[in-house]
Amino acid sequence: MSSLPAPSRLGPKVLLGISAGIAAYKSAMLARLLKQAGCEVRVVMTEGAQAFITPLTLQALTGEPVRTSLLDPEAEAGMGHIELARWADTILIAPATADLMARLAAGMADDLLTTLCLASEARKVMAPAMNQAMWAHPATRRNAARLMDDGWHLLGPASGDQACGDVGPGRMLEPEAILKALLTAPTPAPGASEAAGLTVTITAGPTREPLDPVRYLSNHSSGKMGYALAEAAAALGARVQLISGPVALACPEGVERITVETALEMHEVATRLAPASDIFIGCAAVADYRAESAAEHKLKKTEGEAGLVLRLIQNPDIIASVAALPTASRPLVVGFAAETRDLEGYARDKLARKGLDMIVANDVSREGLGFGSDNNAALVLWGDGQENLAPQPKRELADAVMRHALARLAARPTR
Ligand code: C5P
Repeated sequence: MSSLPAPSRLGPKVLLGISAGIAAYKSAMLARLLKQAGCEVRVVMTEGAQAFITPLTLQALTGEPVRTSLLDPEAEAGMGHIELARWADTILIAPATADLMARLAAGMADDLLTTLCLASEARKVMAPAMNQAMWAHPATRRNAARLMDDGWHLLGPASGDQACGDVGPGRMLEPEAILKALLTAPTPAPGASEAAGLTVTITAGPTREPLDPVRYLSNHSSGKMGYALAEAAAALGARVQLISGPVALACPEGVERITVETALEMHEVATRLAPASDIFIGCAAVADYRAESAAEHKLKKTEGEAGLVLRLIQNPDIIASVAALPTASRPLVVGFAAETRDLEGYARDKLARKGLDMIVANDVSREGLGFGSDNNAALVLWGDGQENLAPQPKRELADAVMRHALARLAARPTR
């Protein structure tokens, strides 16, 4: 553990909440890591969590009695639940099930853990864990967004194999990753707080449009530019919500990632999060078309027929929907334009047609730049100005784009 930073940002008093997911077995390791990092740890388990791991295990690892019930006269005589809520610097719930997220989002206080969350002013962090379909369900999406609005930081979930046999987003982050995120995020470094208090929402990566259960239409977007922007905005002290299509990139520290697959899903999340955002950046390579109806079963090759006709219909233009929000709830809207010729002409046209405040145009035909590469060059355009950004690493370009966006935000009339 010597490689971990000191727990100065975490605060030494962590209340670890455990709810009823199979990932609860990893919470024992998390409790141990927190102790090793120098934290005082007290554990609260929901009733269901105790079916997966015993309070005795957590008691042995933390050296403290584990609380499981709100109405426990003996425990209340020791440290009452309000006292426990005040004691914590950080409440960390791992795993956080769909049910617990729903109860917290609704402001319920129907067991000890939800009551403590409601009664505590501590920093609140959760690591969701559930079946991928449950995570993708609109109800869970709504609850996750509500929790973020209420000040919760969501870590993960990760994608991959699930205990139930499914594959997809919903796995709890590994204990080491949770600890690392807790120790390093999201307090901005001194002198890097130009965007403190602002919420920046970014779309990134490609979308996938299903044709049948095993095939989809997509594109080569790596997501690197959008992720670099998320990192840059977080480093400037902003709260960052990253709406990401399927990419092979880790979620930057301190960034809240919402993973989506299709343009329609991205549209739903983006239009829900945009009104409470100060800056919206559309960096995703959204598929312009989707299959009119995805086949329920795998499409079969028909002998004797040389071709297959797919009927595609247009996807909504996500950034144009955000730009069309009423002034009072419209963030500053920044778009991207990947072009192969007449960069300025096409970008100016998109800026006006989609109603954007600023557009970042790049020439994707240039060798070694753009799609999939770590470097990019761009022409930034807004109403009455423009600036050429020379070829540079995407992370540095992201800093420059964020500086431009902050300048445009400062220049616009208050909403
Ligand atoms: O694909 P196009 O060149 O029109 O993309 C320009 C901008 O519009 C980008 O910022 C992209 O993220 C956004 N866009 C979108 N929804 C679409 C298509 C593009 O938000 N359906």
